[in-house]
Parts: sequence; C-alpha cells; structure tokens
Amino acid sequence: MSTPSNENVVEKGDWKVTMNPDDIYKNPMDIAWSFAYEFGEDKVEDLYKRAKQNQWDSDELLPWDHEVDPSNPLIADRSSVYHKIPFFQKLSKSQQETFTAHSTAQLLSQFLHGEQGALMTAACVTHSVPDAGAKLYAATQTMDEARHVEVYAKYCDKIAMTYPMSPWLKALIDATLQSDRHEKVMIGMNMIVESLALGAFNNMYRTTNCPLLKKLTFNVMRDESRHVSFGHVYLGPVFAKMHEDDREEMAQFAFDAVNVLASAQMQGGSLASRADPGFLMVLDNCGIDQDDFFKGMEEAEEMGIAQALPPGQIHALEDLMMPAIARVGLVTERTRPLYEEAGIPISDDLSVLEAMEGGNPAAETGAAAAE
Ligand SMILES: [Fe+2]
Ligand SMILES: [Fe+2]
Repeated sequence: MSTPSNENVVEKGDWKVTMNPDDIYKNPMDIAWSFAYEFGEDKVEDLYKRAKQNQWDSDELLPWDHEVDPSNPLIADRSSVYHKIPFFQKLSKSQQETFTAHSTAQLLSQFLHGEQGALMTAACVTHSVPDAGAKLYAATQTMDEARHVEVYAKYCDKIAMTYPMSPWLKALIDATLQSDRHEKVMIGMNMIVESLALGAFNNMYRTTNCPLLKKLTFNVMRDESRHVSFGHVYLGPVFAKMHEDDREEMAQFAFDAVNVLASAQMQGGSLASRADPGFLMVLDNCGIDQDDFFKGMEEAEEMGIAQALPPGQIHALEDLMMPAIARVGLVTERTRPLYEEAGIPISDDLSVLEAMEGGNPAAETGAAAAE
C-alpha cells in the first residue's frame, strides 16, 4: 500500500480513516449474461430460498438504543488472552480497560472494512457468474453484505472509534477483486475471507459483554454461514468438471491468497515486526510503550501463555478455511507441498465447518440465546 496523502484522510470522530490512490482500480473480469433462467444446482436454489426467508432489518431487529460505554469492557476479561499475561496484569485497571476498548475497536474496524470488500465481491460475482441461479443467489449476498456494512458502521459510530484497514486484509481482498475470473473471486471471498470472518464473528459472539454487539454479531454470522456454503455448493461441481490445468490455476490462486494471510500472521521475524500498523496505533492511544508490550508478549509466548484459544473459540484457518479449500479439491498434489513449505497446516476435518454451515452458526450450543 502506498502512503496515504493528507488530503485523503477522512475524519471520523476523534479517529481517522485513510484512503489511498490505490483504493481505485480497474479489473479484467468478463461480464456474463445468462438467458437460461433456471438454477443449475438444487443446493444453490435452496440457499437462495433460505437467503430470501432470512433477510432482516437492523432497524427493527437490533436494540440500537442500548447505551454502549467503551470504557466498560466490550469483551469479558476472562475471555481475553491478554489478561493472562504478566505484563498486561501489571498495567493499571483503567489502562487495561482502555486497551480492551481500543483493541476491540481495531478488530471491529476490520469487520467493517472487510464487509465493504465483501459487498464489492458479491456484486462482482452477480455480474460475472454465468449461471443464472448463482446470479440470483449472489444478489442476496450483496444485500446481506450491504446490511453488514451498515450495522458495523453504525456500531463503530456508537463507540466513536474507527481504525484503518489492516494492510494484509486489504491486500487479500484487492487480489480477489483484481482477479480475472469469477471462480477466483469466490475462492478469495466465499472460501478464504468469509471463513476468516466466520471464525472471528464466532469468537466475538462468544466473548462480548455488550448485548447489542452480541445480537448484531449473531445475525451477521448466520448470513455468513450461507456465504461460506455458497462457495462449496456452487464451486464444488464447477471444479469437478474443470480441465486439470484450470483447476491447478484455481489451486494456485487459493494458495497465494492463504499465503497473504499466513505471511502476515504466522511467519518470520519478531512479534513487533509482524504487528499491524493499526494495532501499533492502539498501543499509542493507550499510552503503552511498544517495546515494553512486545517484550511482555514474547515472554508470555516463551511461557506458553498465548498459545491456547479459550473454550468455545475456533481457529479460522485450521477449522474453517483449509477444510473449505480441501473439500472442493483445491489442495492438489502440486500445491500441498507449497502449504507445507510455508508452514500452513492442512486440515480436512469438516466438523466445525459443517456445524457452522447448518444454519446454527455458533460452534457449540447456546447460539439461540441471542435470538
Ligand atoms: Fe458479511
Ligand atoms: Fe459474507
């Protein structure tokens, strides 16, 4: 990403959203008419019906009059891995609360920006997919994503904090939107970004103390479960019939996209060198020294503290994303070693993915409590 110029900085409350010249680009996608007005796949038609029946109006459904106090932690302390770290425990109570508020706002901002990316990719699939039924389904997803942008923008307004988009997330969605085939757009969004989102939403749903955010997240998550299913039920049969060379091209695109994510989060260098610029802003805004923070995190890592996810939380890459990619045959003999060399674990265990696609998105029981 290029450095934002000052005239492109958008003020939002006390915080700033930045826009770069590379936020505008052309894509090489073919646009496809279809005059065969029918569903090519029964399962896509089922999803379309489910999508029509499950539309919701955030103005009616969500308790927007709930007062959100960002100084009162949005995330339960017991669910935060930071609260187990000695460095963090030494901070004052108010500094801990400020950190929780800001780091949550930074995560919610990624949900917001990612939803805008999803909105554009869903619209892109609507005009480029050659199957008439898939076009109708993609139109419902486009509306879903518009609603998701709306609710996260409104929630971020309520807490008066919006952080910039993470460079790796923007790079991943840009690669998806700049690709030359609708199948690649669907791999990038419906299989990779939305698996990531589904995992993050599940974890947010399970950890937040805020009833508005809990209900908002539950309903967004239910929509996302359909979007991940669409990647499977539409692309699975397409890839099964595809020429091997084309399928390899798809498999390579999937690996490259996953690797953008893995490179940003897993590989090489110190924790500090991998830190997101938005997260560094969080530390600055909380008056936490960056060197002290990363030293504290590295000590905790050596003690094995930051490793395990709290109960009920899931790991998006291992539990959702890689199983989704493997399920449609995109981990090929040629790309399997690429994942291994990059240190990306390949899992084909579908249990969490299928449970979340079944219309009850939370990984364990208890989701109904939000309805
Ligand atoms: Fe979404
Ligand atoms: Fe989505």
